[in-house]
Order: sequence, then C-alpha cells, then structure tokens
Amino acid sequence: MKNSTKTGHSAFAEDVDKGLSSVPKYLSSKYFYDDEGSRLFREIMKLPEYYLTRSEMEIFTEQGRAIYEAFDPDSEAFDLIELGAGDGTKTAVLVGHLLEEGADLRFVPIDISSEAIDSLTRAFHQRFPSLRIEPEIGDYFARLETFREKSDRRKIILFLGSNIGNFSREQAVGFFRSLRDVVNPGDRVLIGFDLHKNPRTILNAYDDSLGVTPKFNLNLLKRINRELGANFDTDKFIHYASYHPIERAARSFLISEAEQTVKIEALGKEFSFRQWEPIFMEISQKYDLQMIEELASDSGFEVVRNFFDENRFYADSMWKPSS
Ligand code: AVI
Repeated sequence: MKNSTKTGHSAFAEDVDKGLSSVPKYLSSKYFYDDEGSRLFREIMKLPEYYLTRSEMEIFTEQGRAIYEAFDPDSEAFDLIELGAGDGTKTAVLVGHLLEEGADLRFVPIDISSEAIDSLTRAFHQRFPSLRIEPEIGDYFARLETFREKSDRRKIILFLGSNIGNFSREQAVGFFRSLRDVVNPGDRVLIGFDLHKNPRTILNAYDDSLGVTPKFNLNLLKRINRELGANFDTDKFIHYASYHPIERAARSFLISEAEQTVKIEALGKEFSFRQWEPIFMEISQKYDLQMIEELASDSGFEVVRNFFDENRFYADSMWKPSS
C-alpha cells in the first residue's frame, strides 16, 4: 500500500484517525493540497484580502538586487533551492533579478506535487531558456538529508510564502534545526514571514468575502470522503476563522452545525460530533522581529537582514548559520 505505516493504513488515514480521535479534534493542514486544494489556494492568493502573496511579490520586485547582495556573492556558481516551490511565480521574479546581476545559479525546486513541479519547470524553461533547473518531487523534510551531498557549491535555500506560519513553534524550531544540520557556513536561508499588524487585516485574510477560504478548508473533508471512503456532509460544517492578537496566531476551524456521526471506511470507524463541536484545521502564525530573531537563534542561525514591503506587512528574512 502506498505510504503505508505499521498499522497498514496510509499515513493520511493514520493522521486523520489521530486527529479526529483527539480532544479537541484536529486535522493537519498539510493535507489541504490535493489538486482541488492547490487550485483553491491559487484562488486565495489572488483574493483582495489575502495580502501575503502581493507583499512578498513587492519585496522581490523592488529588492531583488539587495537580496542578492546580502547573499554576499563571490562570483562562484551557487544552488538556489526552493522548499515547497508551488507555482514559482514569485521565485521567477527573484530569479530574473539574480540573473540580471550576472549570477551563475542552478535552480532546484522541490515540491510534493508533481503537477506543480512540471508546470513550474515548463514556465521557467520558457522564461529563462539557459537556466539550469533540477526539479525534485517529494517531501522536502525527507530531502534535507541529501542537501550536503548535492554539491559543494554555496546554497540559498528559499522557504517562502509564509509557509513557516503553518508550523507550531516547536515544529518550526525542529525544522530549522534539521536544516541547520545540513547547511554549510557560506549558505543562506531566505524565509517569508507574515508580520503582526492590525488584527482585522489579518482576520479578513482568513475570512474572505468571496468565501474561498471556507471551500479550501471543507475540501479536506471532501478529500477524506474520496480517499478514505468517509461520508462527511460538508453542508453540516461551517468555517470559522479567528485571530488571537497576543499569541499572534490566526486559526481556522470547521464547526459541526449539528450532532452527527461520520463513518470512515478505510479506518473501519465512526466519529461522533456534538453540535457546535470544532475541528481545528490550521494555524497561520504571525511574527514580529523579535520572534524572528529568537526563532533563528533557537535553531542555530542568525539574521543577516530583513527585507520588508512598503506597508511592513511582511518580511523576507535572510539567515546564516551561526558560528
Ligand atoms: C500556505 N499558507 C502560508 C497559507 C496561510 O496563509 O497560512 C494557507 C492559507 N490558509 C488559508 N488561507 C491561506
């Protein structure tokens, strides 16, 4: 069985079982991104309320050169590795600047979705015909170990789009510590952080007026129906978004509007929901500069420089391993 674990269930089935058996119930947002989920996320990125993508795009458009200089280029060839590359639209802007500056780079996009990697590779080949691209399909956590073997060239590792926001603090430190173990002193990491700001601006980004974010969350229930033979009635769940200004965390929930029981064939189990019982779906952690500094130092890195958009809604933070 594909991806099967000790119990013979897929990792997806096991995680769903664990999450729905917990109190309170939760599901992991890493499973949002099947084909439909990826399509809905592309819609989210275009929403007027979802400022994150536009803010990062502005940083790359306006400050590509400064980012290259902060890398301290030494005219040697280097690898630009992107973790969770997605459609690469923003990265293309950064790559365009790097090439304009005369950088000699090889681009290594890594993503779990082969569809995303294929279309990104096609688009990059078309836009940058002489760029060397070595795409990799897979879980970037698993790929981390192969980084050092990849080449002895310097590396810039990109982790963009505020993807770090979907990690708990503990997961984020664990992730960057694993990364720290496989980078060399001259390597740099560039991470996209969504910054704290007017709480309403943040809440609106996760509670959009067109209702795309609810569909994005409910799509995971549809995926469980399809892939694990469940019978979630998605009309009986509503999406609820919150922002906690002290914790600086946006959270999404699906709330059961009625008392109901859901059967999941692949697990041979039923799960009951009380009326108004929530399923915690996703955290989108926001950061301030001190939190970024602390995350870097707790993971064995130091901040080289932060790049901001004009509104200071967002920061791309360049880190180097601390000595
Ligand atoms: C992918 N990730 C950074 C998005 C975020 O902002 O947390 C996912 C998302 N969830 C709802 N809207 C967007």
